[in-house]
Parts: sequence; C-alpha cells; structure tokens
Amino acid sequence: MSAERPGGAALQGKVALVTGASSGIGAAVAKMLARSGAIVAACARRQSRLEALKAELEADAPGARIWTHTCDLRSVEAIIAMFDALEREVGPVDILINNAGLGRPAPLSERGEGRSSYAGWAEMLDVNVMALSVCTAEALAQMKPRGVAGSIVHISSLAGYRIPKEGGFYGATKHAVRALTEGLRRELQAEGSPIRVSAISPGVVQTEFGGVFLGDPDRAEEMYAGLQPLTAADVAAAVEFAVTAPRHVQVHDILLRPLSQPD
Ligand SMILES: NC(=O)c1ccc[n+]([C@@H]2O[C@H](COP(=O)([O-])OP(=O)(O)OC[C@H]3O[C@@H](n4cnc5c(N)ncnc54)[C@H](OP(=O)(O)O)[C@@H]3O)[C@@H](O)[C@H]2O)c1
Repeated sequence: MSAERPGGAALQGKVALVTGASSGIGAAVAKMLARSGAIVAACARRQSRLEALKAELEADAPGARIWTHTCDLRSVEAIIAMFDALEREVGPVDILINNAGLGRPAPLSERGEGRSSYAGWAEMLDVNVMALSVCTAEALAQMKPRGVAGSIVHISSLAGYRIPKEGGFYGATKHAVRALTEGLRRELQAEGSPIRVSAISPGVVQTEFGGVFLGDPDRAEEMYAGLQPLTAADVAAAVEFAVTAPRHVQVHDILLRPLSQPD
C-alpha cells in the first residue's frame, strides 16, 4: 500500500468493513475510508456494483486495498460466513460501518396487496435492525480479544427522532438503531472498553433510497421536492469526523439535515 494518499492516511492499515457499499452513502464512505488509508471491505448483494467500486477506489487511491464480498444481510449465516472470510483473507476488523438499510412502502394501516406490507416490515427489521446487530456482535468478537480501539458506526436517520410521512415502520427501525447505539455504548463503557460506538442520523440524502422507499426507482426525485438534499459525501464527512476523532472523544450521534428540509 502506498503511504501517501489524497486526504491523508489517518486510518492507515485499519481494516474497515462497510455494509451496503454498492451505492449511495456506503459507496461514499468506502471512498473516504480508502483515501484515509484503510483496507476497505465492501459488502452488498450486487456484485457487479462492488467490482465497479473496487476499480474506482483503486484508480482514485493508487495502492489502496479493497476486498469485496457478496452478502445478503437478511441471512445470519451469511453474515457470520462473511466475518469469518474477512478475518481469514484480510484480517480482523477494526472499523465497522453499519450502513446497509432500506425503507419499503409498507403503511402500518394497510396490509398491502397480497399482504405485501408484512414482507416489507420483515425486510426492514432484518436489514436495519437484525443485520446491524449481528454485524456489530461479529465485529466485537474480532476486536475485543485484541484490545483494539475499534469503531462501530451506525448509519441511522432523522427517522430515529421523528416519524416520516408514510414511514411508520421505517421510523420504528431507526428508533431501534438509536436505542441500540445507546445500549451498546453503555455495555462497552461498563467494560472499560476502548471501542467506541457512534450514530450518524441524516435527513434526506440523494441516493437510491428514495426509489426503494417509494416502490418505484422513477419516483426517487419526489423525495427531494422543494429541497436540496444532502449528498452521500456529506454523510461520509460526518463518518470521517467520528472515526478520526481523538480517542477520548466518542461522537454519540450527528444529526444532519438539509438546510431546506422542513421536518
Ligand atoms: N437516503 C436517505 O435519504 C437516507 C436518510 C437517512 C438515513 N439513510 C440510511 O442510509 C443507509 C444507506 O442508504 P442509502 O441512502 O445509501 O440507500 P441506497 O443507495 O439504496 O443503498 C442501500 C444499500 O444497502 C444495501 N442493502 C440493502 N438491502 C441489503 C441486503 N439485504 N443485504 C445486503 N445489502 C443490502 C444495498 O446493496 P444491494 O442492493 O446491492 O444489496 C445498498 O448498497 C440506510 O441505512 C438508510 O436507512 C438514508
């Protein structure tokens, strides 16, 4: 790996796993980590996207090391296999970015066509809450025995603080992420652990999220009506602040809102 990188090398040689790195915020965070000298482990379901990201990062930061892994985070077994492969092929994880997540059009007051709301609720719970928790526990199992001052970052949402219109279940999962952030902080603090946990809670960000949330990729722009959304790079900058802060500083949660977002 090269010692010199654009943006410095604050995280030189650290193994950083980013879930949901195939688009949006995850891809932007992976880029930031590679520029900061980390060995980036990128996972998602879309392998072709991960390969394109790897090529882009290697061009952007010559000498960068990028490991990709195709994984459907709805499977606990697949998550465990991914962490085992990461440790074997790259090394134990130092930084975990729990970014993968989604919202589905699944109102609380309607069961949906063919009871589709139930599948939407289950998927949000599995990815936004269960996978985040399983990834966290697997990462801690690789961090704790080495006594490393690791970092765990949950990409939460403003929906962890207020419930978006037609996003009742999504808001419930992000309220859970907020609770899980504080719950883990308390456990690690009680153990005297050097590992820190942070959340980043953005408002509207221009990614592929809107198309999934509204159930139609062509409707994604409706999310940004009347406002200038945050960019994925804006969120990555907040993640960078959290993971490069002095070790006695634990960034608990950063709420980021577009200036023009009303709620
Ligand atoms: N965009 C916003 O307005 C906004 C606001 C606040 C918070 N957030 C949060 O930011 C995080 C990232 O979202 P984004 O805005 O960047 O959306 P995005 O562009 O749709 O990216 C979502 C990522 O999650 C991955 N993912 C989804 N389901 C998965 C599964 N079952 N297994 C593995 N990976 C899965 C996707 O990868 P594959 O499809 O390739 O698997 C993709 O890489 C989410 O937690 C979201 O809740 C977004």
